[in-house]
Amino acid sequence: MTESASHFITELTLATLSRAPVVREMFPEGASRGTWHIDLAGWGDVMIIAPASANTIAKIACGLADNALTALVLALRCPLLVAPAMDVDMYRHPATRRNLELLEERNVRIIPPEAGELASGLEGEGRLADLQVLLDAIGRAMDVEADLAGKSILVTAGPTYEDIDPVRYLGNRSTGKMGFALAAAAARRGARVTLITGPSSISTPPGVKRVDVRSAEEMFEAVKAAADGLDVAIMAAAVADFTPVEASPHKLKKSPDTKKTVTLQLRRTPDILSWLGKRKRPRVLVGFAVETKDMVDEARRKLREKNADLFVVNNPLEEGSAFAADTNKVTFVTEDEVKEFERQSKDRVADHILDFVARKLEKPENTGTWV
Ligand code: CTP
Repeated sequence: MTESASHFITELTLATLSRAPVVREMFPEGASRGTWHIDLAGWGDVMIIAPASANTIAKIACGLADNALTALVLALRCPLLVAPAMDVDMYRHPATRRNLELLEERNVRIIPPEAGELASGLEGEGRLADLQVLLDAIGRAMDVEADLAGKSILVTAGPTYEDIDPVRYLGNRSTGKMGFALAAAAARRGARVTLITGPSSISTPPGVKRVDVRSAEEMFEAVKAAADGLDVAIMAAAVADFTPVEASPHKLKKSPDTKKTVTLQLRRTPDILSWLGKRKRPRVLVGFAVETKDMVDEARRKLREKNADLFVVNNPLEEGSAFAADTNKVTFVTEDEVKEFERQSKDRVADHILDFVARKLEKPENTGTWV
């Protein structure tokens, strides 16, 4: 933390949120050695300066080492990422431009700021890049394996909303977290990713083409439009199985003679996964299921009926599983294998699914095209 940073937030805030010690001083009291920055420089796998001010960028471009941060940079052995954040005029200033070029020439990776409203009230480039963009850059700097390079992957995510009238709908509790984690991980691993999502407030992962839909029918149309030339489809959306027979064009009203109960007529929605399964050539199709009993039998039945390669099953009765959670406890069910995983983050679950996909794609019988 530089001196300037401490005017924006306190050391205590940073220590509390990161649950890690904060380094501020070049020569901290109580340090057993004066070379702590050399130790830290060798310890990290990657270093990111976010936000990086014009002043810090200028200093590291010149090789100055006049505070803890810049001294650490000079001794660094791992990749360095710099995410500038500053006023638009400072960012555009020829001195800053040149400093950033100098850093790039030295293999420092610059994560450009976004345009928008700035702290100064001005509009323009200078806002710190989105968190997901920073995380993605860190992943790339750490050489996450691009084992899905050149593959086309479709992911569905989120709930669907089935309209009853202009103000009401049938929905479910899916937030889209699992599908978005899959799309992000697949893009990180080099795939071309199309994410078709029902209503979700999660921001689009970097490098992912996002298509927003509302109902099961709209999701089906979007999947059909994206289906040509796919290598892999992962259906993580919680698609409504039923939709009102007809959405009322006007708000449904109650009147004094409305009965105590009303009946809503529903019809089946198209099963998108089955549609892909029927068209399937030698490619990889992954489905999700929520089961609270006879998990493996049910998943295998769906696997066969829908012609999928893997069903990822979760049980919402387990703690830290399924909807809205950041973690998931899943079981993989394939034609000849059942694999139960520990509870873990949805990001890790996504990587396990993609490991399965990558292995499957390597098989010679799966090298054809799915048209
Ligand atoms: N799915 C789909 N289109 C639908 C319904 C489901 O593509 N109209 C996909 C989901 O994205 C998920 C899988 O199919 O990958 C879920 O299969 P499904 O048999 O619908 O599971 P459940 O809804 O849990 O079925 P059931 O209530 O019969 O257990």
